[in-house]
Amino acid sequence: MRDPFYITTPIYYVNDVPHIGHAYTTVAADVATRYHRLCGDDSYFLTGTDEHGQKVERTAQENGKEPQAWVDSMIPQWQQVWDRLEISFDDFIRTTEPRHKDRVAKFVQQLYDQGDIYLGRYEGPYCVACEAFYLESELIDSLCPIHKRAVERVTEENYFFALSKYADWLLNDYYKRDPSPVQPVERLNEVIGFVSGGLQDISMSRAAVEWGIPIPWDPKHVIYVWIEALQNYITALGYPDGEQFKKFWPAVHLVGKDILRFHAVIWPAMLHAAGVEPPKLIFAHGWLLVGGEKMSKTKLTGIHPDQLLDAFGADAYRYYFLREIAFGQDGSFSWESMVARYNADLANDLGNLASRVLAMITSYFDGIVPEPAGRAEALASTAETAVATYRKGMDALDFAGGINGAWEIVRAANRYVVETAPWELNKSGDKAGLATALWSSAECLRLSAILLSPVMPDACEKLWSQLGIGRPLADQRLPNDGAWGGLDAGVRVTKGEALFPRIETK
Ligand code: MSP
Repeated sequence: MRDPFYITTPIYYVNDVPHIGHAYTTVAADVATRYHRLCGDDSYFLTGTDEHGQKVERTAQENGKEPQAWVDSMIPQWQQVWDRLEISFDDFIRTTEPRHKDRVAKFVQQLYDQGDIYLGRYEGPYCVACEAFYLESELIDSLCPIHKRAVERVTEENYFFALSKYADWLLNDYYKRDPSPVQPVERLNEVIGFVSGGLQDISMSRAAVEWGIPIPWDPKHVIYVWIEALQNYITALGYPDGEQFKKFWPAVHLVGKDILRFHAVIWPAMLHAAGVEPPKLIFAHGWLLVGGEKMSKTKLTGIHPDQLLDAFGADAYRYYFLREIAFGQDGSFSWESMVARYNADLANDLGNLASRVLAMITSYFDGIVPEPAGRAEALASTAETAVATYRKGMDALDFAGGINGAWEIVRAANRYVVETAPWELNKSGDKAGLATALWSSAECLRLSAILLSPVMPDACEKLWSQLGIGRPLADQRLPNDGAWGGLDAGVRVTKGEALFPRIETK
């Protein structure tokens, strides 16, 4: 039995519309979830929106709207993008929902009652774009290290969370767990370095901000947006006694590396303080770069997903980002590399394989998948190894490695078609050889459709129906359906439209 799988994305600020950096995490989480569903794991995928705080408050003001009206107006623009990208979340949480606000209030009340929260005075830099307090020493040329913009000076009475109390637990228990709860290893080292340098207690309320969840025992303050936003991961599950919470917690959190400390230092400490199991894994991915810098709306380098979806469609979009950039590393996006990958991998390798094989079954066997006369040993064993490589990659959130594993089958099948040359077998009247060659090639298509379905759900559905397999693709399960030999002879294939028509560039 594999463990239940609970995965989250960060909840996104709704001061603006999504860009491809946001979509990057969400697509990754969706692919991971669909993969776990394929393995028959009990899976739950949460995403949502972070709707409080100064950044949203100010944007609403600038647009002449009340904050609630502003955030409500932004939601459709996010959901439309997730629809187009085929994001199959199980729940979408908004931090303005009562279910979140009520449970957050209880959570912080508990920490206050047990003495982990106290009143103090905060003075220091604050970046509204990050919604983050910084130490003077963290600024670069007096600017926010992430946005390279001027910071604001905050002097206010704040409640503090006694984070420093938990440094020892983080260093000597949590970060030492195996498998490591912070990945990749560079990120683990980064947080260990940070915590070893000495942890300070942190502000957990804002007096100068109105748009937020009031501190239950002192409603002049609202809860600092990060402190409440992190709790979405448990409030959505009905913490403390919801069934989903009992079943699915602790989570795998996918986050960008810029928000690592919130997730890998503050959040586990808060949970531990409250007596809740900390996250199973915090996996920090890299940034999509433009001109060598983090792409962002603040710097006006944000690209809306629609711009790419219009040209490439959702399947190719999902495939490109996960295949092109090693998950965990930074990566540069370019139109040229996207076209190149699309044409080489999708139109050529996979698309042509499918159309050739289906066309040959149509002309040589009247569209009926023939019974193989023998077993293509080498191809079968390549496929078996490929499935194992695929699973190892996908289980480790190494999407590029996983996809590459699946691609071994596509590549091997293309070589096999060239080597067996079914058109020659047909000419020479070798019906048995021809049947084995075409059945085996079609078997590779069946396996590819299954393994790639988490990445390219629509295209794989199309391929599946072209293969004429009676059972729904959604009912396929690994490992059983990933074993060589699952394709039934006698079913009728259809040639259908090209899966990935070539994109011509001028
Ligand atoms: N609201 C907080 C998260 C709270 S989670 C409890 C937040 N929101 S955000 O909208 O600013 O960013 C969300 C995510 O998008 C972060 O993980 C961030 O790393 C990611 N990205 C934003 N720009 C990005 C790139 N250019 N590249 C890749 N991911 C990037 O932070």
